[in-house]
Amino acid sequence: MEFDSFPWLGSLHITPCFLFFSFAALFSLFSLLLLVLRLLQPWCSCDTCRTYLTASWASEFDNLCDWYAHLLRRSPTGTIHVHVLGNTITANPDNVHHILKSRFENYPKGKQFSAILGDLLGKGIFNADGDNWKFQRKMASLELGSLSVRSYAFEIAGSEIRTLLLPLFDSVIAKSLSRTPAGTRPLDLQDVFRRFSFDTICRFSFGLDPGCMNLSLPMSEFAVAFDAASKLSAERAMTASPLVWKVKRLLNLGSEKRLREAIELINVLADDVIKQRREMGFSAQNDLLSRFMGSIQDDQFLRDVVVSFLLAGRDTVASGLTGLFWLLSQNPKVEEAIRVEAAQVMDPTQDVATFEQIRTMHYLHAAVYESLRLFPPVQFDSKFALEDDVLPDRTYVRRGTRVTYHPYAMGRMERLWGPDCLKFKPERWLKGGVFSPQSLYKFPVFQAGPRVCLGKELAVVEMKTVALALIRKYNICAADSSWAPRFAPGLTATFRGGLPVVISARPLS
Ligand code: HEM
Repeated sequence: MEFDSFPWLGSLHITPCFLFFSFAALFSLFSLLLLVLRLLQPWCSCDTCRTYLTASWASEFDNLCDWYAHLLRRSPTGTIHVHVLGNTITANPDNVHHILKSRFENYPKGKQFSAILGDLLGKGIFNADGDNWKFQRKMASLELGSLSVRSYAFEIAGSEIRTLLLPLFDSVIAKSLSRTPAGTRPLDLQDVFRRFSFDTICRFSFGLDPGCMNLSLPMSEFAVAFDAASKLSAERAMTASPLVWKVKRLLNLGSEKRLREAIELINVLADDVIKQRREMGFSAQNDLLSRFMGSIQDDQFLRDVVVSFLLAGRDTVASGLTGLFWLLSQNPKVEEAIRVEAAQVMDPTQDVATFEQIRTMHYLHAAVYESLRLFPPVQFDSKFALEDDVLPDRTYVRRGTRVTYHPYAMGRMERLWGPDCLKFKPERWLKGGVFSPQSLYKFPVFQAGPRVCLGKELAVVEMKTVALALIRKYNICAADSSWAPRFAPGLTATFRGGLPVVISARPLS
């Protein structure tokens, strides 16, 4: 062999060892290629994969999730395969029960998911499986299930509504009164809810207020970094192969460079918060960080726990509220029925309902559940099969396959909710005026089984308290009623362009 043009090769002797390693490397590459081809089937030319790859679904549907809902409705089993993504998607409640409960151990989040969110979430509960998850789950359910935490959360939501949300609405109305009707600018309700829920979850998680509710100020550095990091992490999941983002991360390029910068900022701020809490003394505090500090000494782990909670509780509540107010703006009769119900238990001058009053309002509760059915904040959620399996609808699942249940599509299935499934009808949740829950496997908006959302009750109470305070005091109309929701890519459902509304005051009744 001539080594002249490759002098570095000259230093290598063709020894059995060299031959062995070359063969091993080639064999590994070949096996990897076979695995990728087997799992992803990038050549697949079935209708679904072709439509996905060419994005031609967009000519008929506003959103990818609407196209998936259409395919799932058409599928006799309620399950479809997107071979090029190695993804089996289901809207079949029996399958959901199987994945989330009966064969829970076979469907962890998996390494793929933890790789995608690992840089942002570290070892936090959202990104954990096995013993680490069990430990955090036990500790978090003790905390979140306690009466003192629940009343602390309710207190925070109430005080944020009274001191920030209502004054903000009043000031927007006062400003719009001083303008000509043509000069009135719509308010982006989604932006308000995102600011509100960030402040609320930060107060709940660390007892500190980042002060996002001042609309004239830019969002706090922390909120901006957090938004960027969740969006950029979600974008990793959308690349054709994980290799793409992994190489970009290695070279610190483009979106991966921005993600690294955002995470660095989050880390600095989280470290500050933890240090402050230690200095202030945490034992007498009610916030989650202080409570976790009692049993966790490792600051890195504390950071991961707290960041997971921020992610869990921030965008989800804002997204739920945005969906609810969009539906109310299209269904004034439902809004009126909520006011009538509230008038039966609340004093006309009362701005925020008490916990006891909220508990008696079954119609309001049904309206919140109905809005979550049509606009679930987490539109889909994936697991990865550890071993080969067969789902109850006889779908074969090969080891390593991504299996996704799809609450957005499930809320729009005629076979689950009847022919009026696309209607916003809180009455479907009531029996004789009393809220009647449905199976969580038919309505997996908060997931179900051993990993069911730990903040479910907190979230629903917060949504009801905010909605009630706003509905009673203001008329809130969509600025453009011909507008159709389009979602932006991200971990949580977000309306692209926000939810522009026009608001006016109404007399309390
Ligand atoms: C409407 C609001 C909310 C919705 C729709 C929602 C939905 C969900 C869903 C679908 C999951 C499963 C995610 C997964 O495993 O990939 C989840 C998990 C979780 N949620 Fe929520 N959530 C909401 C609000 C909250 C709030 C306010 C908190 C805390 C204050 C919270 C805490 C958690 C935690 C800690 C987990 C992880 C549970 C585990 O892995 O064992 N959530 N939530």
